Amino acid sequence: MNELSKIKESVKRLKSNFSLSPEIGMVLGSGLSETFSSLVDDVEEISWSDVPSFPEPTVEGHEGKFISGRLNEKPVLIQQGRLHWYEGLSWDEVIYPIRVQKELGIEEIIMTNAAGGINESFSPGDLCLITDHINFSGDNPLRGPNNEAFGPRFPDLSHAYGGDLRENALIAAEELGVELKQGVYAMTSGPSYETPAEITALRTLGADLVGMSTVPETITANHSGMDVLAISCITNKAAGMQDQLSHEEVIQVTKKSNQKLGDLIARIVSKF
Ligand code: HPA
Repeated sequence: MNELSKIKESVKRLKSNFSLSPEIGMVLGSGLSETFSSLVDDVEEISWSDVPSFPEPTVEGHEGKFISGRLNEKPVLIQQGRLHWYEGLSWDEVIYPIRVQKELGIEEIIMTNAAGGINESFSPGDLCLITDHINFSGDNPLRGPNNEAFGPRFPDLSHAYGGDLRENALIAAEELGVELKQGVYAMTSGPSYETPAEITALRTLGADLVGMSTVPETITANHSGMDVLAISCITNKAAGMQDQLSHEEVIQVTKKSNQKLGDLIARIVSKF
């Protein structure tokens, strides 16, 4: 079966499972999804393993579910968990959920992730709006024959993280009294964390934060004409700026920031 047929098959299952037609999509990364669903009304959910053709995640903290419901009255689709290149998946698998969201009719997508702070002024627990990215993964998810049904061969990334959505996010944060930093996100392939020398190099290149996701999904979303808003939870100072890094710390800090991030997203969605 070709990629588009697989996506249509997944979407058919999701449509038959959910009573709402979502307008806004969300991708919630490591440990960021737990408290979020309590903010959503009329919840219906489906595990990825029950969706035909859907790849399975392998990382702890990535549950692999779609939740449909209303957030501040707006119909939303929440993707709990995401797929990473470091899991050994193909790019088509990594970006599959974004293609599915697009095929479902979603035009605006909010992504969250955990990231290391490269900017000296960032501390664990901070939230940061991504303004742009540096793709340091060494590859591009759109490499290979282009399917015009998805988007153009050479998509423009001049405004990859839509300006209007960012403006709304900044206003929402101010209204809530939540500090929202802004910065350029660098993606590394993982799964190892970066070396201190790589962090120095990334800082020199203009990166403020670093992580192992979001860039392929953002490229894919832009390819298919979706608007992207991305917010990182800074879980640690990047390599070389603190003694050592651990996945446990990343999960702990994201859990602590869940409430703040959930409230912020709910407020942002009310402005759509
Ligand atoms: N590097 C890469 N990915 C991450 C980090 C980091 O320091 N923290 C959370 N995800």
